Amino acid sequence: MGTNAIPPPGTRRPLGGLRRALVAGALGTLVLGTLTAVTGQVSAGAASAGAAASTLGAAAQQSGRYFGTAISTSRLGDSQYTTIANREFDMITAENEMKIDATEPNQNQFNFSGGDRVYNWAVQNGKRVRGHTLAWHNQQPNWMRSMEGNPLRQAMINHINGVMNHYKGKIYAWDVVNEAFDDGNGGRRNSNLQRTGNDWIEVAFRTARAADPAAKLCYNDYNIDNWSWAKTQGVYNMVRDFKQRGVPIDCVGLQSHFNSQSAYNSNYRTTISSFAALGVDVQITELDIQGGSAQTYAAVTNDCLAVPRCTGITVWGVRDSDSWLGANTSPLLFDTSGNKKPAYTSVLNALNAADPNPTPTPTPTVTPTPTPTPTITPTPGPGACAATVTTTNSWPGGFQSTVTVSAGSAPVNGWTVRWTWPGGQSISSLWSGQHTVSGSSVSVRNAAYNGSIAAGQSTTFGFTANGTAATPTATCTSP
Ligand code: G3I
Repeated sequence: MGTNAIPPPGTRRPLGGLRRALVAGALGTLVLGTLTAVTGQVSAGAASAGAAASTLGAAAQQSGRYFGTAISTSRLGDSQYTTIANREFDMITAENEMKIDATEPNQNQFNFSGGDRVYNWAVQNGKRVRGHTLAWHNQQPNWMRSMEGNPLRQAMINHINGVMNHYKGKIYAWDVVNEAFDDGNGGRRNSNLQRTGNDWIEVAFRTARAADPAAKLCYNDYNIDNWSWAKTQGVYNMVRDFKQRGVPIDCVGLQSHFNSQSAYNSNYRTTISSFAALGVDVQITELDIQGGSAQTYAAVTNDCLAVPRCTGITVWGVRDSDSWLGANTSPLLFDTSGNKKPAYTSVLNALNAADPNPTPTPTPTVTPTPTPTPTITPTPGPGACAATVTTTNSWPGGFQSTVTVSAGSAPVNGWTVRWTWPGGQSISSLWSGQHTVSGSSVSVRNAAYNGSIAAGQSTTFGFTANGTAATPTATCTSP
């Protein structure tokens, strides 16, 4: 996003359906908040039965939800910032550090220094982490910005695999694809990723599921909060289609950057419940409200609490001065001095008034990855190579495979792997190689960067394909 104009403060809409506020929470907040600032304790303020919780995270946990914030490495040295963040929030998103430009600044050279700093800060303080984001038209590194077509498609897949592999098993939910829809008409945004073919989003999700089956996989966007907007309907139709066709998707992220052009509307609850009815979780992923209306913050919170599959809320920053919008828009829950704002109290009270017995959130249904049948890898002779195909994931109508290309007792400089499909399968996307197809025969040449294999070593390429999973015998030749 980044183009929304900043509205004058105090232009928020009135609300409906506010729950009764628990005034007792405010006093508890003050006392325990002070204690935690002194002791630096993690997750202080957990509620005993019947008592109001005194922090956002603890209050959200009472109904099985989380309350998170975006964290920036540039502020981890600010003790007021880390004290508030540590005390109040139990889910963390890296504001910029896990994005494409940060994690793969040069093609195939991954850098997790910033992402790991945020991740480590979170887990060392007992918090979970949302991953943001893997495929996006924005914040692409220069090398990716200039790419188009199949090389870009393969670079996207390679990026998803590289980042998710690094954080495998550690991330609660990934924003797999971010902001892929156009603001106006409910169609796709024109971007270099979109121009690789309309299936780029589902390829991203299938790749992500195979890379880390434990992570929830989310589609994340802004201006999909208002149920009557075409963009909301466009994303809704995509998610419905994905669920019908078995494309792996577990959640929708409503960014929820509210301002006068994109104002909170009371149909927000309909948006949340409609997505949830498709069989996905809904997460409010980047909440900020220009003007900081306490009533609007409470309404957003109550709308989430009203839907069992709305599993958590993340605000996009800690203090107003930490916001991408600038402190003068007053968009967050803490002021620039770190004081709790009226919006903070309204959110805390709403969380404390939530139904303590929510329907448990189902874990995503993951197609068990079949244990590959061990294949005897032929030992290649000098200067020769061998290839084995392994199925790494499958779903109705498709599958994903990894092909291992091994050198024998001498190095290989350039390789070609060939196989024939047994039952009409077809490749939908292939990465780390260049493929040509002739009828049922497939030929894959090395990519520019993985043609050289040292003696006794191996490299891999991968693909997704349509049809029933198959592990054809592959041959490898080296020029
Ligand atoms: O770190 C550099 C600094 O070295 C340099 O001097 C300075 C000069 O411009 O730029 C700094 O980088 C900035 C970065 O934030 C860190 O502050 C970038 O220019 C700036 O573009 C970047 O903005 C981020 C924006 O995404 C980029 O699209 C915001 O922090 C971040 O809050 C925002 O987050 C997005 C979500 O990812 C997706 N949804 C919308 C949301 C708000 O735009």
